[in-house]
Formats: sequence, structure tokens, C-alpha cells
Amino acid sequence: MNIVEIENVQVVFGEKTAVSAASFSVAAGETFSLIGESGCGKSTLLRVLAGLQREWQGRVTLFGEPVKPAVRFQGALRRNVQMVFQDPYASLHPNHTIYRTLAEPLKIHGETQIDARVKTALQEVGLSADAAARYPHQLSGGQRQRVAIARALSLRPKILLLDEPTSALDMSVQAEILNLLNRLKQEHQMTYLLVSHDADVIAHMSDRAAFMAGGVIQRFFDREALERGEHRMSSSPSPLPSP
Ligand SMILES: Nc1ncnc2c1ncn2[C@@H]1O[C@H](COP(=O)(O)OP(=O)(O)OP(=O)(O)O)[C@@H](O)[C@H]1O
Ligand SMILES: [Mg+2]
Repeated sequence: MNIVEIENVQVVFGEKTAVSAASFSVAAGETFSLIGESGCGKSTLLRVLAGLQREWQGRVTLFGEPVKPAVRFQGALRRNVQMVFQDPYASLHPNHTIYRTLAEPLKIHGETQIDARVKTALQEVGLSADAAARYPHQLSGGQRQRVAIARALSLRPKILLLDEPTSALDMSVQAEILNLLNRLKQEHQMTYLLVSHDADVIAHMSDRAAFMAGGVIQRFFDREALERGEHRMSSSPSPLPSP
């Protein structure tokens, strides 16, 4: 079953066409990635799928149900689609403890046994229970991103939208977070839609990928093409001519 289907999706900001006629589908259990240079439309496409971008054209289907522009995601759809952003510092409320950050979405969705759920959420991402009492500025960048992942996962979503989830982190921490994401995906049978401009990250994580440029999907790569490194040609700047 396809978790995501998009057909001819277009997003226009004034004079600027950010995404033009994008079409792809993502099967259950897959990690599908979008790669491409800054400004090519990756985040905009993810925001459409998260219900954060209200104006767009085309057809979008999530879990077999058509989604309409300008309609708020509610109920199961809101739970089932969660997003993790590039900068965990900006995405966590600076004046809320980690406990509150993790507890609030659970309360909003009418969950019970909040204390136990928060404890489990921290454990799942490898944070100790005493992190609950801290504020974001008292954690490292990697720990903050673990909190953002814990928050996204606590509602047991079916799909995680990951927008450059490790690009703000050191290389070694980046690898830890990517491995954590892969482990959690297996444990909870999730589907991932990952955005990255890093060809190594794409190769490590993805079953398939699409290369975008200028708002257009230029090319798809299957697992074999990714293993052969074909996506590296499109994603890196052209080599300098030899003297
Ligand atoms: N709210 C907005 N208003 C006007 N233009 C926007 C808006 N959001 C994005 N854009 C423009 O749309 C284009 C695509 O932006 P987008 O954020 O999707 O790129 P991206 O591929 O995610 O880039 P990056 O790798 O830098 O994150 C850019 O030219 C950007 O300036
Ligand atoms: Mg972006």
C-alpha cells in the first residue's frame, strides 16, 4: 500500500514557483528521500505533506485518503504524520521543560498515563529520565534532536517527515541520530520521507530517492542506483576542469 501519493503538485509563492508538477509515491515501510540544492523546493514539498503549507495545487493522498489544500489536519491524520525539523533548538520551546514538551502533544490527543509515556519516549531515544526536568539549552544539539524525535514518535505516527534532521549536528552525532532513526523505524514499522542535501546521508538511509532542481523532480534513484552512487553526480557541484 502507498502511504503517500502525490501527483502534479505545484506550490507558488507570488512570482516564484517553489514546486512544479511533482509526482511520486511512497510505499509503506520505505525510506524515500528528496535530494537537491538549497532552494530547490524540498522543504516546501514536505510542508505540503505535513499540512503546514496551506496553498498548493495538484493531488495528494495520505493513507489512501485524499488531502485538500487549506484544510487542517485533524484526528488520526494529525497523529499519523509527524515532522522533525533541521534545527532542534528552534523547534523546541525554550521555556518549556523536556517533560512539558513531550507531555503536551500526548495530552492534546487525549492520552492517559502521561508520566509513563514520557519516560518511555525518553528511553526510546536513549535519553536518561532526568532529562525530563531540563530545558532545551541545558542539552547538547544531539540530545535536543533526540527530544524532537521522541516528541514526534510519542504519538506513534505512521510516517515521519524528516527535514535535514542531522545537518545541524557534528559528524559523529549525525551518525548516532541516523542509526537511532533507522532502529526506531524497524521497531515501529514506520515510513520515512527524508530531506537531505548530503549524498552520504541519502545513501545510508534511503530505499529510493528523487533528485530535485528548480522545483522539479529531475530523476529517481532506486537502491541499486544509490549503491552505485549515481545520486552523487547530480547532488554535488560539477568538478573543476583539470588544468
Ligand atoms: N513562505 C515563502 N514565501 C516565499 N517564498 C518561499 C517561501 N517558502 C519557500 N520559498 C521559496 O521557495 C523555494 C523553495 O524553498 P524550500 O525551502 O522548499 O527549499 P529547500 O529545497 O528546502 O532549500 P534548503 O536546502 O535551503 O532548505 C525557494 O526559492 C524559497 O525562497
Ligand atoms: Mg529546506
